[in-house]
Amino acid sequence: MTELQGKVALVTGGSRGIGAATIRALSAEKADVVVHYHRNRARAEAVVREVGPERCLLVPAALENPPAARALWNEAVTWRGHLDVLINNAGIFEPVGIAEDAETWRQAWQRTLQINLLAAAELCRAAVTHFQDRGGGIIINIASRAAFRGDTPDYMHYAASKAGLVALTRSIARGFAAEGVLAYVIAPGFVRTEMTDDFFARQGEDAVLGEIPLGEIAAPEDVANVAAFLASGRARHATGATFDINGASYVR
Ligand SMILES: NC(=O)c1ccc[n+]([C@@H]2O[C@H](COP(=O)([O-])OP(=O)(O)OC[C@H]3O[C@@H](n4cnc5c(N)ncnc54)[C@H](OP(=O)(O)O)[C@@H]3O)[C@@H](O)[C@H]2O)c1
Repeated sequence: MTELQGKVALVTGGSRGIGAATIRALSAEKADVVVHYHRNRARAEAVVREVGPERCLLVPAALENPPAARALWNEAVTWRGHLDVLINNAGIFEPVGIAEDAETWRQAWQRTLQINLLAAAELCRAAVTHFQDRGGGIIINIASRAAFRGDTPDYMHYAASKAGLVALTRSIARGFAAEGVLAYVIAPGFVRTEMTDDFFARQGEDAVLGEIPLGEIAAPEDVANVAAFLASGRARHATGATFDINGASYVR
């Protein structure tokens, strides 16, 4: 299949985990991909080498800085002169408990909301206006099961940031479908990446597995395959929908 030949996608957080797997899946469909990263340039370069440097552009951006999202978009759209697909995947999962002092708690909330929600919202805003001019485009936002189920007390801010991303995506789908702008949520449960390594080490993997009827922690490819399918444009009437990838651990 080469369904994405001639299409250009921007994937945030492409240096590892779900983002890197998504870039591999898009490249297998012959998409050109803007590979965003934050600190791990060497890892992002390795992904680019693997899928073919001639079809990738590497762009760094520290999304905790509010102007960074716009600069990333501008560089990405300039590369091939347009973008067809935006995948907001970059994110953080950093704990903060309510017993922390108020300033630490507030800063943790601000940082998580900035990276997981506000930066993604800014990229969505730029994408919608660009897609309106082009007669359409596709936005895929990587949220989380936590947006719907809630999370543990140390990750309330994470759950809130992902719930905001869900509401944003649904609003875009409803507001701009008539102009060809399609928007989807992917909501993973646990996926085996560096984001969850610490969590598994602390909680024990067996406890996590016990909650998953499928009896496995998802691989990044489980998410990437769905993202590549949605990016292909073959699910137009599913715009606004959320795709749960959680091994039936939270069936809604
Ligand atoms: N893993 C899971 O179980 C799980 C479950 C539900 C949802 N998700 C969501 O899926 C997405 C990807 O998760 P993952 O597990 O693949 O995570 P990961 O392995 O920790 O990778 C995170 C990615 O985000 C980038 N990033 C981190 N901080 C950033 C910042 N301040 N500015 C810009 N980019 C930044 C990283 O870039 P560098 O490597 O260059 O620093 C990296 O590419 C996230 O939105 C996450 O919330 C994951």
